[in-house]
Amino acid sequence: MVHAELGQVLLDEASVRNRVRELGASIGEDHTGRDLLLIGVLKGAALFTADLARSIRLPLQMDWVSVSTYGRGSRAGQRRVLKHVEEDVVRGQHVLVVEDILDSGATLSWLLNELQHRGAASVASCVLLCKPNVTGHLVRPAYVGFETSAHWVAGYGIDYAEQWRNRSDINEVLLPALADV
Ligand code: IMP
Ligand code: MG
Repeated sequence: MVHAELGQVLLDEASVRNRVRELGASIGEDHTGRDLLLIGVLKGAALFTADLARSIRLPLQMDWVSVSTYGRGSRAGQRRVLKHVEEDVVRGQHVLVVEDILDSGATLSWLLNELQHRGAASVASCVLLCKPNVTGHLVRPAYVGFETSAHWVAGYGIDYAEQWRNRSDINEVLLPALADV
């Protein structure tokens, strides 16, 4: 088992909770009278999606996708869908993909394209954290929780080596190679 230590708390539990409520309120206002389908990206966005859904006062639908990435770096890596959403669930819906982190945007841009091809009325995205990226972002999310630094982070659904997803706050990860120095 890999053990990485957590560094400083970047976003405490109350900050995360308050921001998720604000996002939920905005999404609710923007989607009044529309068929809204939230699609959470497993596993990183599971906690965020569950909390966000409860902050949106609309009779929305929820579903999940799971995507694995191979190869070095998510941009160059090939993607494989481990769990997709059925076409008849997506068709005609206003789809909001809920993702944990936007870095290059490669994962999200690929996924939004996939869902558009499945007949969604519209596709947009909501990311909890947006990292700075030197080459810019391939996607412009409609909703962003926080603009963050490029630090590797964990907590609130986000893992380091599959650990720390269960924390309620978001923390800097001290990568083992750096922690050993
Ligand atoms: P992108 O495809 O380059 O936008 O990378 C975004 C994906 O990389 C997200 O779905 C995350 O799963 C993963 N990722 C990026 N930064 C972190 C991090 O700090 N902790 C955990 N996962 C991350
Ligand atoms: Mg991910």
